[in-house]
Amino acid sequence: MKILLVCLGNICRSPMAEGILRDMIRKQGLDWRTDSAGTGDYHVGEQPDRRAMKAMQDHGIDISDLRARQLHVSDFEEFDLLLAMDANNLQNMRRLAPSKDHAMKARLMMDHAPDHALREVPDPYFGGDEGFEEVYQMLTIACTNLIVDVNG
Ligand code: 4NP
Repeated sequence: MKILLVCLGNICRSPMAEGILRDMIRKQGLDWRTDSAGTGDYHVGEQPDRRAMKAMQDHGIDISDLRARQLHVSDFEEFDLLLAMDANNLQNMRRLAPSKDHAMKARLMMDHAPDHALREVPDPYFGGDEGFEEVYQMLTIACTNLIVDVNG
């Protein structure tokens, strides 16, 4: 299973999602591949946002090795599932998809957390540190369920 996590800048939400998911995959011994990307190119080559790295470190997960990249049309061939952090990301991803079948691979991350009050992972970039903790909590629920949803 190859999963791509996608947000706008690829420095806050999607690298956090990648870090949480790859930690779960490693602990469960699954043969999955993960990566993340941004629909925008503003932060290409950058490390995750300092606040994102701190929130993850508070939970024992190191994401300092990740570097931002932009979503590419070839990602729709490469990955089985492309998970968007919000509806705006999803819309932009589907526009880039080379076919309708490819576009169907793009879904909302929070589709895997149907009981949560929010359908989108809020962008924490312009807020304070507490936004990053909320994102961590939401993504932990979504990633836990994602593995169950895919593996049955
Ligand atoms: P992300 O957060 O999409 O979760 O990585 C953002 C990072 C940067 C910007 C917006 C959102 N920005 O406008 O630069």
